[in-house]
Amino acid sequence: MDGTSSILFVGDLVGGLGRRTLLALLPAIREQHAPSFVVVNGENAAGGLGITPKIADELFAAGVDVITLGNHAYHRREIFPYLQRTDRILRPANFLASQPGHGSCVVERDGVRLAVVNLQGNVFLRSGRVAFSEIDTILEQIGDGADHVLVDFHAEATSEKVALGWYLDGRVTAVVGTHTHVPTNDARVLPGGTAYITDVGMTGPRGGVIGVVKEQAIESLRTHMSVRFETSEDDPWLMAVLVRCAARPRRAEAIEPLLLPWR
Ligand SMILES: [Fe+2]
Ligand SMILES: [Fe+2]
Repeated sequence: MDGTSSILFVGDLVGGLGRRTLLALLPAIREQHAPSFVVVNGENAAGGLGITPKIADELFAAGVDVITLGNHAYHRREIFPYLQRTDRILRPANFLASQPGHGSCVVERDGVRLAVVNLQGNVFLRSGRVAFSEIDTILEQIGDGADHVLVDFHAEATSEKVALGWYLDGRVTAVVGTHTHVPTNDARVLPGGTAYITDVGMTGPRGGVIGVVKEQAIESLRTHMSVRFETSEDDPWLMAVLVRCAARPRRAEAIEPLLLPWR
């Protein structure tokens, strides 16, 4: 294993605009940063909610190594069998065992094995098991079967994400937060060597309210009446982080946010 591996992790793709933004910007990002692995959160990829087999296939064809999900994993029924049979698409590992899919996988490039784990928070989100104990079990299962480990922690509360970062510091390469769709300004390598950010942000319309047409979100909040939400098409950005892995297993050298407008 060399010390030059790096991971591009892309925050929640929102709708067709989010997908188009990723596909449009990925070649230039590859050219500039040459990431060894590309991991994308796709829980909002299908019209803002969930993901379909066709969209997942499209992302894999574009060179995405692993797709992670979150609380919208099951919005589209047609994805259930796909989640069962496809290794490289993950729903949170701490869902109930009876729920379709699985929560971790290992991918390999140039002799470097990257384990990706998807976890969901327990504060304000419904998850079958506690994320903190689940990750202990998974790391034990992975054993020495991976050189690096990336955890996508899909959670609402910043406190819960910060706590998991500390809990895993020195045990995994990176803990990256998703779900709020708003990037946080706290990317850093923790003292034990784990790259951490509370939220990567989203890839999609920055001109909306976390992906929704802003007028509709405001109307809903202002009137407390039922408002039909549509995905905004306004001001697409790609929000991601680039994690540079250390030569030492399961440690990071650097984490750098990438916040890029498209068009
Ligand atoms: Fe999301
Ligand atoms: Fe979410």
